[in-house]
Amino acid sequence: MAQRSWQLVKIGLLNGPNLNLLGTREPTIYGTTTLEEIVSRCGVVGAELGTEVVAMQANGEGQLIDQLHAWRGHVAGVVVNAGAYTHTSLALRDAFAATSLPYVEVHLSNIYAREPERHRSLLAGGAIGVVCGLGPLGYEMALRGLVETLRARR
Ligand code: DQA
Repeated sequence: MAQRSWQLVKIGLLNGPNLNLLGTREPTIYGTTTLEEIVSRCGVVGAELGTEVVAMQANGEGQLIDQLHAWRGHVAGVVVNAGAYTHTSLALRDAFAATSLPYVEVHLSNIYAREPERHRSLLAGGAIGVVCGLGPLGYEMALRGLVETLRARR
């Protein structure tokens, strides 16, 4: 019965600014995989894990916050790549705190090997975990880590 109810669980996949351009955006840094391909792969992995992945991308900070509010009570957790808002948005961190949504942060690039302004994440302190530098595979790892962690908590 517990297993059956878990299978109804949804996981949010939230992508922030400029990630809609993956595939052509700075390919030497972010590769050539599109966001659509990443979302599709997460859907397959999510199904394997017994969950449904619901994805949303927005370029606006407020849109991302509104999505977290809407997901409250409807998704069990969130995989988030907040793009540049990672480094600037106290409001996004507050939204995670306000909704109590557990999350794993992911970045395609290794933010710690890049410019100093990318070394700080305002989201990391509240995250279950952070995956960065592994390209699209990082999304899959973040999803697996999130689901396994939430499952262990139940
Ligand atoms: C990113 C890293 C951020 O610093 C950058 O602003 C992005 C993408 C990544 O996935 O590597 O937009 O989050």
